[in-house]
Amino acid sequence: MNDLSREEIEKIIYYAAKLEPLSGKGSKLDICKGEILITAFFEPSTRTVTSFETAMHTLGGDAQRFNQETSSMKKGETKKDTVKTLEQYCDILAIRDIEPRSVEKYASSVTVPVINAGDGVNEHPTQTLYDMYTIRKHFGRLTNLKIAIIGGLKYYRPSNSLIIGLNKFEGNKIFGICPAGMELANQFRNDSYQEIVMNMSQLNMVLEKIKPDVVYVTRLKKEYMLPTEDPKNYFYTINKSTMDVLPKNSILLHALPRTTELSTDVDSDPRVVMFKQIRHSLQVRMAILALFLGHKDELERL
Ligand code: CP
Repeated sequence: MNDLSREEIEKIIYYAAKLEPLSGKGSKLDICKGEILITAFFEPSTRTVTSFETAMHTLGGDAQRFNQETSSMKKGETKKDTVKTLEQYCDILAIRDIEPRSVEKYASSVTVPVINAGDGVNEHPTQTLYDMYTIRKHFGRLTNLKIAIIGGLKYYRPSNSLIIGLNKFEGNKIFGICPAGMELANQFRNDSYQEIVMNMSQLNMVLEKIKPDVVYVTRLKKEYMLPTEDPKNYFYTINKSTMDVLPKNSILLHALPRTTELSTDVDSDPRVVMFKQIRHSLQVRMAILALFLGHKDELERL
């Protein structure tokens, strides 16, 4: 997210809004006709991989999914050689990897544009762009908001990126609320951010006091936790009683997948907009792909 200026974020959101009515199921544009995206995910994904591929199809291009399990990586080929090989077959790559900042390294070793689709415990910038799109659509602004980010902040890349993104807009107050041991890594802290380390059984009381506009629930990323970090010691859950203390015009976001941190009993609350949020991944990723592939003029003409 540090690579993007406020103006660039606003531009992506602007083009995504133009694309929204054109990104319905069955829609087909010809903006990226003849161009190929390869998704190379060295870590599991449901939403990011399928939305990138659907976005490319909707733009009229093609998408190929690299499958690590059936690839020559099983014969010992390195990820770097794999990426340099995939580059030969496509116009753009979307890569997810387990190593922080690895996508940046792949990008410097190839000539096609590379999109970071999540790099370990570091960042998930395209997630943040559609989180911001969702916030902007609801409130009509990305400034002067109170955002409570709850949970396992230590290993959660979407919140790292969101904190950087929201700090580019004035007046935002970001509250990181987490159990001791799950604090945000220092490199993601900024002027907009303050942290409340607490006993998570008191969460509703704290939220009632903050009155956040946006509640962003994170998952405890057990897959990244150290053997000495027992998930039981960091347990938290948002349920209907939490919704009862939130302002009427607030929204609750979650990048998904969810586990125990968000009870399904909140799903019918209209403030819980996580599936709309996921839907916005499509037009935001369409905008990103089209821009990276040099189709700004076509986006302008929409
Ligand atoms: N939000 C998100 O990145 O989901 P996936 O891991 O399923 O792609």
